[in-house]
Amino acid sequence: MVDGRGKREQDFWGHHIPSLEQCVANFHAGPGPNTEAMLQAVGPLRGMRVLNFACGAGVVTAWLADLGADVVGLDLSRQSINRSREVLEALGLSASFVCSRLEDANGLGIFDAIVGRYALHHTDVPQLAPLLAQRLQFGKTAAFVETFASNPVLRFSRRHLVGRAGIPRFGTPDERPLEVSDVLALRAAFGSVRTVVREMRFLRIFDRQVFRYRFPPLSSALAKFDDALNRLPRSEFLSYHQVVVLEKTVP
Ligand SMILES: C[S@@+](CC[C@H](N)C(=O)[O-])C[C@H]1O[C@@H](n2cnc3c(N)ncnc32)[C@H](O)[C@@H]1O
Repeated sequence: MVDGRGKREQDFWGHHIPSLEQCVANFHAGPGPNTEAMLQAVGPLRGMRVLNFACGAGVVTAWLADLGADVVGLDLSRQSINRSREVLEALGLSASFVCSRLEDANGLGIFDAIVGRYALHHTDVPQLAPLLAQRLQFGKTAAFVETFASNPVLRFSRRHLVGRAGIPRFGTPDERPLEVSDVLALRAAFGSVRTVVREMRFLRIFDRQVFRYRFPPLSSALAKFDDALNRLPRSEFLSYHQVVVLEKTVP
């Protein structure tokens, strides 16, 4: 039974699905650094039963299948699941798909790994975390690339600049970057949590949202500054995108 939040997600993704050609091109471009870190956190994947939570248009599902995983892609959006099926078929890969909210999905069984990209921050994390943990084998790993609210500069900018001064707002009405309370809920459900940042995305976010990559020398300078920040110890909190890695250590 899809609630108001689920309905708003379905409506949004019904109108924002990337084309089949775009998805196939994204697949061939390969995972970005943080997605690569997510896949490595749960690997090696050959023969593993993997849940791709909130699979969207199926590009991550395709990478998982290509790495030899036995993948189930789950998403509440019918249009997303349809596109996912087309993407896997176009690439000659195979996976199973379930069109449902995680909250309503019965009979999924237990997985050796769970992954999701830009997935948790579309949900009520404290409510969803125990349901995800129930789907994961004890001692196994889940990993998610997510947006985080841990950088105060980005938090301020998101609240006060986005949607103004020509800076576009893109996203569903309910999505919001993860807060400390969400990370604590994930730790309570799984047992152990850490974050990994393979590519710092702090000034890169301003390049994308404000300058829209229009000035290549500036893009290169901002990327270098971000890379330097990423070499500092304990700098993960500065990145808008972080990989949250969860080991299931509680029964
Ligand atoms: C940003 S998109 C994910 C994109 C995809 N993972 C990717 O990397 O391209 C977020 C997705 O979460 C799905 N979603 C949100 N809440 C969900 C829930 N409770 N159960 C299942 N899917 C959900 C939406 O339908 C949407 O496809």
